[in-house]
Amino acid sequence: MNDLIIQNISELILPKKTEKPLKGAELGELKIVKNGTVVIKDSKIVYAGEFTDEYIAKETIDGKDKTVSPALVDAHTHLVHGGSREHEMSLKRQGVSYLEILEQGGGIHSTVKATREASEDELFNKAEHELLRMMHHGVLSVESKSGYGLSLEHELKQLRVSKRLQEKYGINMKHTYLGPHAVPKDTDSETFIDECIKDLEQVKGIADFADIFCETGVFTIDQSRKYMQAAKQLGLPVKIHADEIDPLGGLELAIEEEAISADHLVAASAKGKAMLKDSDTVAVLLPGTTFYLDKNEYADARGMLENNGAIAIATDYNPGSCVTNNLQMVMSIAALKLKLSPKEIWNAVTVNAAKAIDVDAGTIEAGDAANLVVWHAINHEYIPYHYGVNHAEKVIHKGKVIVDNQFNLM
Ligand code: NIG
Ligand code: FE
Repeated sequence: MNDLIIQNISELILPKKTEKPLKGAELGELKIVKNGTVVIKDSKIVYAGEFTDEYIAKETIDGKDKTVSPALVDAHTHLVHGGSREHEMSLKRQGVSYLEILEQGGGIHSTVKATREASEDELFNKAEHELLRMMHHGVLSVESKSGYGLSLEHELKQLRVSKRLQEKYGINMKHTYLGPHAVPKDTDSETFIDECIKDLEQVKGIADFADIFCETGVFTIDQSRKYMQAAKQLGLPVKIHADEIDPLGGLELAIEEEAISADHLVAASAKGKAMLKDSDTVAVLLPGTTFYLDKNEYADARGMLENNGAIAIATDYNPGSCVTNNLQMVMSIAALKLKLSPKEIWNAVTVNAAKAIDVDAGTIEAGDAANLVVWHAINHEYIPYHYGVNHAEKVIHKGKVIVDNQFNLM
């Protein structure tokens, strides 16, 4: 006997299982079944496709007027950190830029102070609350970076918190060491990058990836290359915060070093974009950050797709440049500002996001883990169109309904 059937689904979203990320025009190819059925047994998908009444199960969910998709993947977050930075809003209003705030010892530095001061349990409780919010919004795979410790002791503290969250909730999580996220005030970038390279040896047992913030006033291309090569030598795959603000050539470096992803890319060069054609590095675009930094120019998603690049969309959830962890909101910004179609967006937050962090997620075919979302939405376009609110009605993890967002009053 099966455990659960979802029947009469208005639209069932079925991203394609692939070895490699979807590239260029493939991103717009998405199977959507009207009047679909999903059958679950023992935490796995037994069937997902056209309507059938062949199966029986202990429980049924009525999918009338609902959309069902694989659970979402948030491929870039700074989930674990101390404190909050709402005082920066008035600086932003006065026109002080993100890099100026950082230069003055605020920004990332103020979160570093709060993170160092926080105990491991305090960090855990804060991150847990936000992880649960993400799960309530339909996300069941999360990449989580360190980067607010800027010393081995405190970076390891963040990574341990991230690991504990994964152990507690059993969802797909990847943990990224981002030691070179800013240059501590008492040192210089050359000395600090060498220290981070030395620390790679200690973090490689707990981290899945090594990441770096390559930006004007932070780390240079040469420093980033040195760090990425050292990480790869230790068997740690690499990621890079590249070309977020200035076009330093971070995308080119990511592709040369075969990074699993290059993230941000708002200022990526034409040369870098052209190189995407022959690369499986996933361009992880973070339009919620561009929105929150109040920039007029967004990443050139269409240009990247024209160059047959692979792109994914993520939140970049962090206390400074993107304070939301509602990936649905970022899907709306992607529609409006990156000019992506709804089908492209769904692939970008499921299968391609999964490739960017190397998790087996983003599809619901027979045999897959039953990680899916029943959306309060009549079709797949409804969700990015209606921005800023949570459309997830039921979130199903390993076959069990773990979230049931009903509007019941006490
Ligand atoms: O991805 N760009 C660097 N790091 C984060 C922001 C971190 C912060 O401001 O606290 C980002 O945008
Ligand atoms: Fe980031």
